[in-house]
Amino acid sequence: MFTLSSMDMDTTSTRADDGVRTAPRALATEAVHAGRDDLARQGLHAPPIDLSTTYPSYDSRGEAARIDAFATTGAEPDGPPVYGRLGNPTVARFETALARLEGTEAAVAFASGMAALSAVLLVRGSMGLRHVVAVRPLYGCSDHLLTAGLLGSEVTWTDPAGVADALRPDTGLVIVESPANPTLAEVDMRAVAHACGSVPLLVDNTFATPVLQRPAEHGARLVLHSATKYLGGHGDVLAGVVACDEEFAGRLRQVRFATGGVLHPLAGYLLLRGLSTLPVRVRAASATAAELAHRLAADPRVARVHYPRIGGAMVAFEVYDDPHEVIAGVRLITPAVSLGSVDTLIQHPASISHRIVDADDRKRAGVSDRLLRMSVGLEDVEDLWSDLDQALGRPDRGAGNCATGRSEPAPAH
Ligand SMILES: Cc1ncc(COP(=O)(O)O)c(C=O)c1O
Repeated sequence: MFTLSSMDMDTTSTRADDGVRTAPRALATEAVHAGRDDLARQGLHAPPIDLSTTYPSYDSRGEAARIDAFATTGAEPDGPPVYGRLGNPTVARFETALARLEGTEAAVAFASGMAALSAVLLVRGSMGLRHVVAVRPLYGCSDHLLTAGLLGSEVTWTDPAGVADALRPDTGLVIVESPANPTLAEVDMRAVAHACGSVPLLVDNTFATPVLQRPAEHGARLVLHSATKYLGGHGDVLAGVVACDEEFAGRLRQVRFATGGVLHPLAGYLLLRGLSTLPVRVRAASATAAELAHRLAADPRVARVHYPRIGGAMVAFEVYDDPHEVIAGVRLITPAVSLGSVDTLIQHPASISHRIVDADDRKRAGVSDRLLRMSVGLEDVEDLWSDLDQALGRPDRGAGNCATGRSEPAPAH
């Protein structure tokens, strides 16, 4: 329950959580209203975009106090943020909204998903906790960041059952993706969170979004998104965000301030707008994806279909024939890396999203060279199927009705 302490709201405060709430609200309602609760009382409908890089003040004693407070706790500045790297009111609206959707106290936005992951690693590394336990597969560049130790971290790769044994006294983080990129493998988050003990579990929730699962409810302390994907939803924003408790958020804001991976306010505006249609987009695309997964599973040209138990708009499938020919053959579907846009995208992970991962590691993680990953958009299912059907080539080019290696998708959600 939230109450408003004053009707006089400081429009330059980075805080966007100024609304009066009298009852718990459903996800669809939060998606439309969270981060915007103060607008009507300001006589506004669309959220203002604050492009300021600096915030003038004749009170430099007050500014010094705000900087000291930020350096101590990393809490959002009380009043104007002083400088754009400390915070931004438009970005804060998106952060407030995403935290509500994920059911966490706070969220901290970054210039990209990789900037968000980097900030988490820097927070833990700065505490002397450089060791990371991670479950493959992860998005290729997340894998690379950990494997190469670019930020001074050291990684132990394991499967979900091996997490407890992989922990060390200097383990600062456990990382999983569920469903994972690109195989859509799912982990039992509650079991992994239990195995983590006091070590924070980070779940990359990019593929599922809070519409399908809220990892914080299953014990994740950190929920990461490449907001570039479903949260933005239209392929025109590069962004990342971490939803977490206020204590961790403070540390993330301090790292963001010191290292500069801030989100541009226009991106914050577009993400807030994207969130308002997130539930509708995810549910519509998921229904289409489930149908395509069923059809692919029954197709003799397809060796195996990967589709998550929780559903979602991502489908991965292995073809008997050359996967490059399928990419070359699509006409409606967009042949591009990334995901979560309104249009359907297809890519070949071994060539693009996971190219940077060592080929043997990739294979051990279940990323076959014949795997294609498709992000299903909002087009009509028959148009998509017709494009896939022609891109897969002649029906007699597959392995006939051989059932070996084919996994049936879960029932539609
Ligand atoms: C699951 C997942 N996490 C993180 C990232 C990195 O996000 P960004 O590209 O916004 O830096 C990606 C990018 O594809 C991703 O798929």
